[in-house]
Amino acid sequence: MTTPLAARGANPLRDPLDRRMPRIAGPCVLVIFGVTGDLSTKKLMPAVYDLANRGLLPPGFALVGFARREWEHQDFAKIVHDAVRQHARTPFREEVWKQLSEGIRFVPGEIGDDDSVRRLRDTISELDEARGTGGNHAFYLSIPPGLFQTVVDQLREHGLAEQQSGQWSRVVIEKPFGHDLASARELNRVVSSVFPSSSVFRIDHYLGKETVQNLLALRFANQLFEPVWNNNYVDHVQITMAEDIGIGGRAGYFDGIGIARDVIQNHLLQLLALTAMEEPTSFEAAQLRAEKQKVLAAARPPERMDLHTARGRYRGGWQGGAKVAGYLEEKGIPASTTTETYAAIRVDIDNRRWAGVPFYLRTGKRLARRVTEIALGFKRAPHLPFTATDTEELGYNALVLRIQPDEGVTLRFGAKVPGTQMEIREVNMDFAYGGSFTESSPEAYERLILDVLLGDPPLFPQHEEVELSWQILDPILDYWASLDTPPEDYEPGGWGPTCANEMLARDGHVWRRP
Ligand code: BG6
Repeated sequence: MTTPLAARGANPLRDPLDRRMPRIAGPCVLVIFGVTGDLSTKKLMPAVYDLANRGLLPPGFALVGFARREWEHQDFAKIVHDAVRQHARTPFREEVWKQLSEGIRFVPGEIGDDDSVRRLRDTISELDEARGTGGNHAFYLSIPPGLFQTVVDQLREHGLAEQQSGQWSRVVIEKPFGHDLASARELNRVVSSVFPSSSVFRIDHYLGKETVQNLLALRFANQLFEPVWNNNYVDHVQITMAEDIGIGGRAGYFDGIGIARDVIQNHLLQLLALTAMEEPTSFEAAQLRAEKQKVLAAARPPERMDLHTARGRYRGGWQGGAKVAGYLEEKGIPASTTTETYAAIRVDIDNRRWAGVPFYLRTGKRLARRVTEIALGFKRAPHLPFTATDTEELGYNALVLRIQPDEGVTLRFGAKVPGTQMEIREVNMDFAYGGSFTESSPEAYERLILDVLLGDPPLFPQHEEVELSWQILDPILDYWASLDTPPEDYEPGGWGPTCANEMLARDGHVWRRP
């Protein structure tokens, strides 16, 4: 997804062994709004340190935290330090930390308060002077979308959204990109009234995952797969994102939205788009987005919602030897809620390549294990010159892209069981990242933050993709909202509600047990 190395030119600062992330950000300030949140502590601050540690941030880099806390710069630096110690992926090195911490500032303030934003502006100007950050500023809005309007308006009023020549100002927003199509449009209106679309970076962290980018390598760098990547050979596709955790302390966020909005609208539909799209003419943002948009425009929700959607909610019980609370018993969840923690939907794609091939998407909390994968199930051979007993244990051939945690690719096919009989059994041929490469993959947020600082847009969905995803999901959410019954309960540590199994059984399929 990056420009070819040759086109980028040699960079004297880059580690010649690190061929995957050889680009170094230019001087800039990264401002994080909502710096006290979980995302910031667990992902953003550690990713900034890891980038610094890999030598991908310039000396003229500064990190500014903005939050409603009475902290001094050094208090915030200590928070960053602890977050890095706890969550960074690369080893702690005193000299890297020293250089990074010299550029750390904190601005105490309220969103909506002019004085606070004035202080922020002064801090940024001071950094531009003292650290040589070059007038380049990225504003990461790790805050509820309801506050976006106030923040972007204030950035504009205080001149922070302006781009002087040769300088840039970018805004980074996290999902959820709206609650439905109408609110997504409104959100986009708010942000684009201040920042041009080329300066808006929407984060879908799945696109920053190495294995998701590998999907493009697998499909388009090889001759082997693309000829069978269509409805002549593929019977159906299953995209699974399963988690073994519950909602943790996120009741306030989660109960208002449910799992379909939380991950299907973004992560799973992006995976579907990358799996199903045509080959882009290049991996430049415009071409890639054009292909994703085309396929999302051809994707549609099921005609029979009652038959081809399923939702569930985990109940209390035992998981991995521990007693776990049910969704209704989680702190902060109202008894009357109908929010789903499991969702499965069928999506069909109306184009020549995919007509007749159902894409089944499922996701859930408190399932048997954490796993994300894309599995293409192939049609059976048109003729089997064996007896029925010979092929008793032969299922359908499958190609499985293991996104996480055990990153790799599996090809599943039938092989002869050793012996004097002709007996066929399914076997796996495996590629594992860990076994084939010594370099560790950068964390998704590292890659994405670096791309923001570089202004490299291919891994960030455009508003059009967001709209198209809501067009697929909205009718399903409306249907669920119209039902009188709550989502079906399912046991923790299993694979979801019975209705999801029935949904597939109706089409003659079963869910994979990854
Ligand atoms: C987030 C969702 O986008 O992705 C969370 O809001 C979910 O609910 C998380 O737990 C999972 O991310 P990952 O990278 O661990 O698969």
